[in-house]
Amino acid sequence: MCGIVGGVCKNNITPILIDGLEHLEYRGYDSAGVVVLDKNNILSRARSVGKVANLKKNISHRKIPLLGSSGIAHTRWATHGEPSNRNAHPHICNHSVSIVHNGIIENFLQLKTQQQAQGYNFTSDTDTEVIVHAIHQALKNTNSLLTATQKAIKTFIGAYGIGVISPQYPGHIIATRSGSPLIIGVSKKGNFIASDQMALLNITRDFIFLEEGDIADITLNSVIIYAKNGKQVRRQIKTSTLKNQQISLGKYKHYMQKEIFEQPQAIRDTLESRITKKTVLVSAFGHRAKEIFKTIKHIQIVACGTSYHAGLVAKYWLEDIAKIATSVEVASEYRYRKPVILPHTLFVTISQSGETADTLEALKAIKKHRSKIYTLTICNCVESSLIRESELIFLTRSGPEISVASTKAFTTQLVSLALLSVAIGRCRGQISRLEETKIVSGLNRLPGLIAKTLKQEGQIIKLAKTFKDKFNALFLGRGSMHAIAMEGALKLKEISYIHAEAYPAGELKHGPIALIDKDTPVIAIAPNDELLDKLKSNLQEIKSRGSQMIVFEDESAQVTPMKSMTIVPTTTDLGRITAPIIFTIPLQLLSYHVALIKGTNVDRPRNLAKSVTVE
Ligand code: G6P
Repeated sequence: MCGIVGGVCKNNITPILIDGLEHLEYRGYDSAGVVVLDKNNILSRARSVGKVANLKKNISHRKIPLLGSSGIAHTRWATHGEPSNRNAHPHICNHSVSIVHNGIIENFLQLKTQQQAQGYNFTSDTDTEVIVHAIHQALKNTNSLLTATQKAIKTFIGAYGIGVISPQYPGHIIATRSGSPLIIGVSKKGNFIASDQMALLNITRDFIFLEEGDIADITLNSVIIYAKNGKQVRRQIKTSTLKNQQISLGKYKHYMQKEIFEQPQAIRDTLESRITKKTVLVSAFGHRAKEIFKTIKHIQIVACGTSYHAGLVAKYWLEDIAKIATSVEVASEYRYRKPVILPHTLFVTISQSGETADTLEALKAIKKHRSKIYTLTICNCVESSLIRESELIFLTRSGPEISVASTKAFTTQLVSLALLSVAIGRCRGQISRLEETKIVSGLNRLPGLIAKTLKQEGQIIKLAKTFKDKFNALFLGRGSMHAIAMEGALKLKEISYIHAEAYPAGELKHGPIALIDKDTPVIAIAPNDELLDKLKSNLQEIKSRGSQMIVFEDESAQVTPMKSMTIVPTTTDLGRITAPIIFTIPLQLLSYHVALIKGTNVDRPRNLAKSVTVE
């Protein structure tokens, strides 16, 4: 979603801001803009609809170059107001304050009415513009940009990460956050702000992660931070372990492709020091994990998108292996329901980014509940808001995921949830040593098995070609494979824009079979499990409707070949934990190659954002 970068430095800041915006492109956006305080102490701004490349062109065509040592910049993902120059950030009030904003100001209409009555002229349709006017108004009664911003934010309801500059206070940037992430990058070249580390990795590895409600006054040589209560605080500088090669494409054409092929290593990293040869280390979930896992009676999983699908798979494992009642729900629904929360519930949030607004709000809401509940976050980003809000944490360690379509984050979430199922199963005395050893050895084999499955790319490229003129596709699975089918369908629609649905194969007769014709390919997942014969009958039903079928099978499943059916023996003799993880791989490759054929923007599909930090 929207991205922020800004800073105060010794030299011209424009190239740093543009480079930062380019590194934030992966988040998803539809316009971009930059403002610098030029040598005449004037706010000099450029904004463009579309890619950062358009903004660069716009800047290079200016008669007066955009030069200055302090500035703020933004990539906007439209919420209030269409993508247009006038709605793009930074916003400016009366040539004297400029801001960039991530998040949503929910009471903007009320503030707008008040500000219009005070004589403020609105030049955009955004909620954001009330921020710049509020700070301008507050500046009338103080001679500090910090105090004015502190005063203004008290009137906002909603979520924000904000960067502020003003010609009246040259060399200062004010940065504040509540509900939206914001970090400060410190370096010898200057001090910077950004919505995530990616924007600043070419400048520094040293970051301060602002906490909820923090506000910082940043200059070339100083960073002074005040907590929500107004008191000055010290926040630790942390050195990022992200390496350039982790965020560069290397030999790959797209980040999605790179991330698909990184899965064997990502899973090795997830397992590292979390298992022995035969057992799962319960302490990997936190020092109180054992005590908590022994006490819990229910599990509630809440997540969004791909992470939600990981939760759906985990329900099968947790109930099967740990024998614990588990519910899974999308966060955007859960947070607004009045759910019955039973005492001794473990509330599990799953998230790649750790910043998804709905998941975070659901977690915050549950923590207010009076029943005895515990919280666990499974996440890929150590400094994220979800991690900070949770009692128990488990990092997926998949490394930075840049492509909007999630791949390695998903499979490492599954591995983490498999470990969780075994850990809880052991603490509850529900899993035998033998069974645990079997699961652990299956997990240890996973990186090798995935590497083998990835070698089938050639065959999948051929299959992808048959989707060239297709508009619909149906994915089928049974048991935990239904969740994998859902993930396969989501990937296909996200990046190839083909309408795809997933159904539990047993539901075929209750509706979706009406859609099946020769133009609707059906993709089925056939593991060799107790539901195999039922799935085979479902395939017969499809055959009689003349549809093209693609079956990813466990070799030992021996699906009978039929007319218009392509069988892809994906691997063999998988267990109930390894199977869903392995069957994910060909589905990822299929959607990637279909998207290539369709010519879409694979890594940055239209209208989507990597991290959905607003509702
Ligand atoms: C967005 C992304 C998805 C992701 C979902 C949840 O929709 O495009 O790839 O699965 O958010 O994100 P999270 O960071 O919470 O896993």
